[in-house]
Parts: sequence; structure tokens; C-alpha cells
Amino acid sequence: MASKKGEKEEREECEEEAEEEDWEDWVWWTNPLEELSDMVDAFEKQGLKGKTVLDVGTDCVKPLYLALKYEPQKIIGITLDKPPFAGNIAEDSRLLTETEIHFYTCDFLDDIKLAKIRNKVIGEDKFDIILISKTLHHLRTGKCIAGKRGSKHEPSKHKQHREDEKCCIYEFKEAEIFERFFKYGEKVIVYEYFDPNEKDNDKVRGKGGYFTMKEWRRILEHLSKNYKVELFKPIGCHLTKKELERAKEKLRQVDCICFCIEEK
Ligand SMILES: C[S@@+](CC[C@H](N)C(=O)[O-])C[C@H]1O[C@@H](n2cnc3c(N)ncnc32)[C@H](O)[C@@H]1O
Repeated sequence: MASKKGEKEEREECEEEAEEEDWEDWVWWTNPLEELSDMVDAFEKQGLKGKTVLDVGTDCVKPLYLALKYEPQKIIGITLDKPPFAGNIAEDSRLLTETEIHFYTCDFLDDIKLAKIRNKVIGEDKFDIILISKTLHHLRTGKCIAGKRGSKHEPSKHKQHREDEKCCIYEFKEAEIFERFFKYGEKVIVYEYFDPNEKDNDKVRGKGGYFTMKEWRRILEHLSKNYKVELFKPIGCHLTKKELERAKEKLRQVDCICFCIEEK
């Protein structure tokens, strides 16, 4: 009898787990909808119709929604880990949209592979638009700065220091990374989440987690000095020196940012 009850409980537990897994699957489709709605102003302003788009760190779902709504000519998504349904989206979307969608496993920092993909799909031109959504903070390439953030983590002093993403907080080199974007694209749309409380709660991912307020202030100052920046979230404005102060204040009250950059 006891074992029968055990079996029943086990089955119910399995069913619950399966339901949770199903829900996790749906999140792949529902989260991008919510995030794209934060970026709509940027897409409307730039106009994607007939354009070529590179989606860096793609989730493979946003490209489908973008194709259906804005009809760009081609969307190329690159990521370090393609989800299992990427091939289906690329193939089956042909029934619903004229937009060509291609996905590749490729590191944005790998010039040789990225140039090969670009040449194959659009030739030697730049992409009209690069989209980087929730992925900019993954492009931390500098040294570990965990010590500077006040954590007891200075490589030389801390015995447990391991050179990996879970342990370190890497530096973000905005000048280098944005120069790289403009090697491949005419305009860049950036969308990011962050923690407005100066903490780092995404430290286990993205080579050190989301950008802090201090990093955002530094990044935005660099961008406003060197590029034309149009901010869409948290406020809509051209990022002049004056507006920069207003934007920095507003950033403290929100947890996402969306802006478009082009060369001056
Ligand atoms: C937080 S997810 C964001 C996914 C999606 N863009 C979104 O808006 O939800 C970060 C993605 O960036 C990818 N990624 C991280 N570093 C990358 C790199 N150097 N080049 C290309 N993709 C990268 C990861 O594989 C992951 O798929």
C-alpha cells in the first residue's frame, strides 16, 4: 500500500515538474515580446524595412518577431549557444515572411569567423543595423576588477581566485567595443537590463554581471562625446551634455535602457 502511495506522489511530482518545464519553454517566446515592446520606439525611428540586421547574442525568437512586423531584408543572429529550435525558425519562417533569417554559432569578438559569415550573407557591406539586446555586458574583455568593486577578491591576495565568469568581474572597454560595432554596422541599437542599486546581482553570468550605475555613467559619457546617441529609454532625447545629466538621474529609477548610436 505504502509503495502505491509513494508511486502516486512521485507521479504527481513528475507532472508538476513537467508543467514547470513547459512554462520555462514558453518564456523563450513571451520574454522577447515584453522586451521588444521596450525597443519599439527605436525600431520605428530607424525603420527596419528592407534593411540588413545583425542580432548579436540572439535568442533566435526576436528575429522572427522583427521579421513579421518590420520586414527587414535579412536578419543574421549570432550567439555562443544556439537554442535547439534555431534551425526550425530559420527554415520554417520562410512560409510567413520574405525576410531571410540565418543563425550562426559565432563569437562577436571572433573577427575571422564573423567576417566570413558577413561575406557569405551580405557581402562586404556593413549591416544597416546591429541589435545587441541584454548582451552588451557579456562583452567584458578587460582585466578582473572585482577588487576595485570593494570585494575581497584581488587576484594576488585572494587564494580562491579563479579566472572564470563565476569568480571574476571583468572590465568593460567601451571605446574598443563600440569601435568594433562600427566595423560591422552603420547603426547600433542597444538594449540592456541592469541593477540601479550599484550592486551586481547577475555576477554568475556575463563575465561579471550587469553594468553598475558607475559603468553606465562612464559608457554614456564616452558615447555622447564620440557618437550621435539617441536615447529611447528611460527618456527620449538626443544625448547632449545637458541631457546626459538628466538621463543619468533618471537611470537610477529604472532597470532598463534602450538607445541607438551612429557615427558623427
Ligand atoms: C542574456 S542572453 C541575451 C539573449 C537575447 N539577446 C535577449 O535579448 O534575450 C546573452 C546571449 O549572448 C550570447 N553571447 C555572450 N557573449 C557573446 C559573444 N561574445 N558573441 C556572441 N554572443 C554572445 C550568449 O550566448 C547568450 O545567448
